[in-house]
Amino acid sequence: MELQGKRIVLGVTGGIAAYKAAELVRLLGKQGAEVQVAMTEGATHFVTPTTYQALSGRPVFTDQWDARMPNAMAHIDLSRQADCIVVAPASADFLARAAHGLADDLLTTMVLARDCPLLVAPAMNRQMWENPATQRNVAQLAADGVTILGPASGEQACGEVGAGRMLEPEEILEAVTAFFVPKVLAGRKVLMTAGPTFEAIDPVRGITNLSSGRMGYAVARAARQAGAAVTLVSGPVGFDAPQGVDRVNVRSALDMHGEVMARAAAADIFIGVAAVADYRVANAAEHKLKKDDGGLPQIALIENPDILADVAALPNGPFCVGFAAESRNLEAYAQAKRRKKKIPLIAGNLIQDGFGGDDNRLVLFDDRGTHPLAPAPKSVLARQLVEHIAQLITY
Ligand code: C5P
Repeated sequence: MELQGKRIVLGVTGGIAAYKAAELVRLLGKQGAEVQVAMTEGATHFVTPTTYQALSGRPVFTDQWDARMPNAMAHIDLSRQADCIVVAPASADFLARAAHGLADDLLTTMVLARDCPLLVAPAMNRQMWENPATQRNVAQLAADGVTILGPASGEQACGEVGAGRMLEPEEILEAVTAFFVPKVLAGRKVLMTAGPTFEAIDPVRGITNLSSGRMGYAVARAARQAGAAVTLVSGPVGFDAPQGVDRVNVRSALDMHGEVMARAAAADIFIGVAAVADYRVANAAEHKLKKDDGGLPQIALIENPDILADVAALPNGPFCVGFAAESRNLEAYAQAKRRKKKIPLIAGNLIQDGFGGDDNRLVLFDDRGTHPLAPAPKSVLARQLVEHIAQLITY
């Protein structure tokens, strides 16, 4: 429920993507937002107000002369109650009217009268999008402080291919969620590792660690939402990169080490969340080992480099953050790791508290002491960790 208590006015304008706005209403509501839909007349030709009313649980406003508001001032009342106005889809016509401060229907009047942020997700044919008039209008809106979401490129409803597709509802939801997160890492470059590594024994077998990657991916998302440029060097996990995060896929600890070291000098912050295998196989077989090869396979192990310690040892390197997953003696082991790797901050958790699930319990250890965080979903803990890092680097 990342939008709990937020009041969002969703403006829908005339475009085929109006059908996707119905899904957006549902997604916003699922995250706890109160959604008030306002439609232009054009939008009602694509989807009826009843659809949005049913999904938002609120009557939909389409008309500035709507008699339901006791003071006949829907345009003022609706925007005053809002934390933001999101217009999705935003047609070329709406963008033009909003850019010029026209107030010729309920939605544009509300936008002009608002005292809250405005986010727009353009949706139109690629020629309409590329038209200098539209580009001028979008540039003007951006200069006026409006947040422009997308558009995406791809196949369009008209059959043409190009820029102008509305972002998907999930992407707009993520952008709206991120919009409310304080930008404590604005302008910072964050480099991270997450997930397990996989050390090959032969082409089909290997040694790995149990790690879902969830905690690392939650930290990557939180850092991105806090305004950082995030590069995530990730071992094999079963989900997509968080929106806006640059992911580099690796398999082995050596690959992870190489990709990290190539980028570490340019990073402001390095966060090692990956469960890196301590050892790799020295005698990995080129072909699949067969049972009838004779005798038990002999696997010789060789130690992997410690990525976090190597980054921490760089002269003028990034601010380094480690993770310690322990099954007991959390404080003693985590503090020992912090000292050994010479890093300013380590986040410790007991394996039984967090493995594979959505929730976790973290304790942060730094030069100032021990900071236990209340048990919470990994997304919440990730945000707290990011805020803690931001405090330490600006201290
Ligand atoms: O030494 P240990 O594996 O217990 O330390 C855990 C921390 O060190 C994590 O932040 C992990 O990502 C990092 N690490 C690393 N390279 C290794 C081993 C651990 O970056 N080879």
